[in-house]
Amino acid sequence: MDIRIDPVAGNGPVRLPAPLGFGRHFTRRMFTQRYDAGRGWHDAAIGPYRPISLDPGAQVLHSGQAIFEGTKAYSRPDGHLNLFRPDANAARFNASAQRMAMPALPPERFVDAIEALVQLEHEWAPRAEGSSLYIRPVMIATEPTFEVRAASEFLHYIVLSPAGPYFASGFQPVGVLVSEDHIRAARGGTGAAKTPGNYAGSLAGIEGARALGYQQVLWLDAVERRYIEEAGAMNVAFVYGGCRIRTPQLSGSILPGITRDSLLRLALDLGFEVEQDRLDIAEIIADVRSGRITEGFCMGTAAVVVPIGRIGYHGADVPVGDGGNTPVARQLYKTLTDIQYGRAADPYGWTRRVEAAAPLRTAAVA
Ligand SMILES: Cc1ncc(COP(=O)(O)O)c(C=O)c1O
Repeated sequence: MDIRIDPVAGNGPVRLPAPLGFGRHFTRRMFTQRYDAGRGWHDAAIGPYRPISLDPGAQVLHSGQAIFEGTKAYSRPDGHLNLFRPDANAARFNASAQRMAMPALPPERFVDAIEALVQLEHEWAPRAEGSSLYIRPVMIATEPTFEVRAASEFLHYIVLSPAGPYFASGFQPVGVLVSEDHIRAARGGTGAAKTPGNYAGSLAGIEGARALGYQQVLWLDAVERRYIEEAGAMNVAFVYGGCRIRTPQLSGSILPGITRDSLLRLALDLGFEVEQDRLDIAEIIADVRSGRITEGFCMGTAAVVVPIGRIGYHGADVPVGDGGNTPVARQLYKTLTDIQYGRAADPYGWTRRVEAAAPLRTAAVA
C-alpha cells in the first residue's frame, strides 16, 4: 500500500506528559484513508493529528455505523517495539465490518497502516514497566443521509495514545457488580462486534456500578439473565482450586478477546485445565462462597489481566478467594506480558517487531 506522508509541525524531541493515564494523550500524527463504492480504499496518508471534519448528516452520527479496534505497541528491551497479533485485530475488524454492513479492509492494509504509523511515532512509546503505545483503528460511515441503509462512503483512521500502566498502584483486585437491570448484548445482536453502540449502551450500567463502589459490571446473558458473559469491556474467567480455569464459551454475544484467546492457550501450556462453557451466576457465587473458586479475573488488551476481588450479587458483597492473593492471574499476566514486551521467547510468533524509523531516541519518560 502506498501511504503519503504529510509534514507535521513540531518535530522536536517528544516529552511524554505526566501522568499518562489511559487514552488521554495522543501523538502528533494519525493515519487516514477513505473508501467509496467506485474507488474502494484510497488516499492512504499519515499526517498531523487533527479534528475530523464531518457533514452533520454523516451516517455515523445517526445510525451509528462505526467500528473500532484496540491493540498496543510494547517497548522491547532493545529499544524497538512489538506489535501483538495485529493480524487477529485485522480479522476482528473485518468481522465487525461485516456485522455492521461496512466494507472489508484487506488485512495487510490494516496491519501495514498500523506499522507505518507506529514506526513514525515510535518515540511516543513509553518505556516504563506496564506502559505501552495504545493503537486505536476506527472506521466510520461518512456519507450524509438520514436513510436507514448501509453507507457508501467511509473513513478509516488510526490514532495512537501513549498509555501508562492500567493500575497506577500495581496489580489490584477490582469489585464487579452483577447487572440485574441491564444487559450488554443479545445473541443475534452486535455484541460480538466492536461497535461503539455496545459501549454506549453499557455506560448507564457502569456508572450505576461505580456509584455503588464497584469498578466493573458483570454482564449476564440477555435471555435467561443467568449465564456470565463479560466483565465491563473485558472477558472473564474463574479459577478452581488453583489449577482449573473456566471461562464463558463464545456465545455470539461475547466479544472474542485476543487476550482471552492468548491467555487460554498459554494456560494450557502452563499445565492448567481450561474449560469454555456456560457459567451460571448462581453456581459461580456458590463456588466462590464455598472456596472452590480461588480466583476470578478479567482479560483485555488495556489491562491484560485484572483480578476480581469481590462480586456484588443480589445486594451481597461476595469476596473472591482471599481478596488479594491471585497467583494464577499473576502468572498468566507475567507469561503474556513477557512475550508482548519481548522479554521471553514467542512460541506462537504472535509478536511483530517494528523498527524505529529514525535513529533511536529515548523519549523523556514521565
Ligand atoms: C466488550 C469487550 N470484551 C472483551 C474485550 C477484550 O478483547 P481484547 O483482549 O481483544 O482486547 C474488549 C476489548 O477490546 C471489549 O471491548
